[in-house]
Amino acid sequence: MQRLIFGGDGTTQVAQLSNMANRHGLIAGATGTGKTVTLQVLAEAFSRAGVPVFAADVKGDLSGVSAAGKPHKEIDRRRALIGIEEHTLRGYPTVFWDIFAEQGHPVRTTISEMGPNILGALLDLNETQTGILYACFAIADDEGMLLLDLKDLRSLLAWMSENAAELRQEYGNISAASVGAIQRRLLVLEEQGGDRFFGEPAIQLRDLMQKDFSGNGVISLLDSERLLRESPKLYAAFLLWLLSELFEELPEAGDADRPKIVLFFDEAHLLFKDMPKALLDKVEQVFRLIRSKAVGVYLVTQNPTDVPDNVLGQLGFKVQHALRAFTPKDQRQLKGVAAGFRNDQGVDVLGTLTTLGVGEALVSVLDEEGAPTSVVAATIAPPESRIGPIDAEERAERISNSPLAGRYDDAVDRESAYEMLHNRAELAANKAAAEERAQAEAEAREKAAREKAAAEERARKAAEKEKSRKSNRQSAGEAFFKSAVRSLGRSLGTRLARGILGSLLK
Ligand SMILES: Nc1ncnc2c1ncn2[C@@H]1O[C@H](COP(=O)(O)OP(=O)(O)O)[C@@H](O)[C@H]1O
Ligand SMILES: [Mg+2]
Repeated sequence: MQRLIFGGDGTTQVAQLSNMANRHGLIAGATGTGKTVTLQVLAEAFSRAGVPVFAADVKGDLSGVSAAGKPHKEIDRRRALIGIEEHTLRGYPTVFWDIFAEQGHPVRTTISEMGPNILGALLDLNETQTGILYACFAIADDEGMLLLDLKDLRSLLAWMSENAAELRQEYGNISAASVGAIQRRLLVLEEQGGDRFFGEPAIQLRDLMQKDFSGNGVISLLDSERLLRESPKLYAAFLLWLLSELFEELPEAGDADRPKIVLFFDEAHLLFKDMPKALLDKVEQVFRLIRSKAVGVYLVTQNPTDVPDNVLGQLGFKVQHALRAFTPKDQRQLKGVAAGFRNDQGVDVLGTLTTLGVGEALVSVLDEEGAPTSVVAATIAPPESRIGPIDAEERAERISNSPLAGRYDDAVDRESAYEMLHNRAELAANKAAAEERAQAEAEAREKAAREKAAAEERARKAAEKEKSRKSNRQSAGEAFFKSAVRSLGRSLGTRLARGILGSLLK
């Protein structure tokens, strides 16, 4: 077990115990009070302890963690006050990610991997529409069709709408109006970056869980500036997906000495905004259970009251920076925050909350027994890396030197639902045409054999053939549908297994 010291009050140091770091945490406070720098200091400490870190970088200012800080008297002041002996100005190993592929390696996942629960929430679907989305995933599973990108989903939905009557018995009612509504939402999502986000190569968890040659945990930063501006819902969906993937993929870890990865989710209130109750229940469950997989989740938010109580109650680590107390609503929130701290020393929590300086905070962590420590007003340590963003040139250099350069940079589009549906329709059409040709040839042969027969007789037979040919011919759609239903029977019971949040089990 390691003590990750991140601050102190002049007499005692405050430290996160590495074996308690999977008990989740909160970093809260008004804008400009020091949340990002606190995150940076913690990320450095985890990295030094060999723990990989994933963090959303909402303003780009966290990128400074990859560059060495400069000597500053404020660093000296904080070091002296807290009693930090070792402090080496240095940058930390950092990998940059960006859904838009501008500020880092592109990050993608597939529709199939995200699953219907998170996708339904992302698209804000009502109950009926969600039902159709479930049917869509079931059909894709039953049919062995891959849903990788948005065009796969869109073409399967269109096919479902065309074949609604035949699908009803197996998959329920698929109304054209509901499919249309989903299609319109998908178009919006496409414009907001969904077309880039859904596809392959999908991000591999192991690439987020690396150490460098010196054993430092690699810090993965998701540049979220543009994403938050253009599609806050996609931002939330990605973080939820990441959480559920880690939960489903990692083995049980028992009482681990330190986490396998820690996640920092900034603008955490967005995660829970407008979330359907059923999904919220599942997210709370995943939060609780993911601890046993040695994953620590740290929520960063301006206002802790934006985080649902059942999640808030699970957070063992709290760094509360200054809050404002202008409005009656602020006052209520302050009281709520103050009530959340254990306070044996009689700290004036309410008074302190509004008067804390920048980079100071009320802190409570879990002790060796896992009990919350009594709240203290602490000064947060200075980072070893740079405070504030790196410039475009530094970023470009880091991206091209990244060990992951080239792995994700180019999208690939392999055969999936979209192509399969197209091929099938084509196959069915070809088959119908071939049948028609064969029939015509047979007719011609028979016609030749009977040439000697009476003209009357010949005419009568030809008419009969023509009649039976017509009824045998299947339309392309019919032929395709029959083959689809046949293979349905074959592959029932082989649906892909999905976890709590609906992500794919591999
Ligand atoms: N622990 C710290 N050590 C040194 N300076 C700090 C510290 N915390 C905050 N600061 C100063 O305060 C500024 C604002 O902090 P920041 O973390 O960006 O606030 P927030 O994320 O809450 O908006 C930083 O740019 C830095 O100059
Ligand atoms: Mg900030």
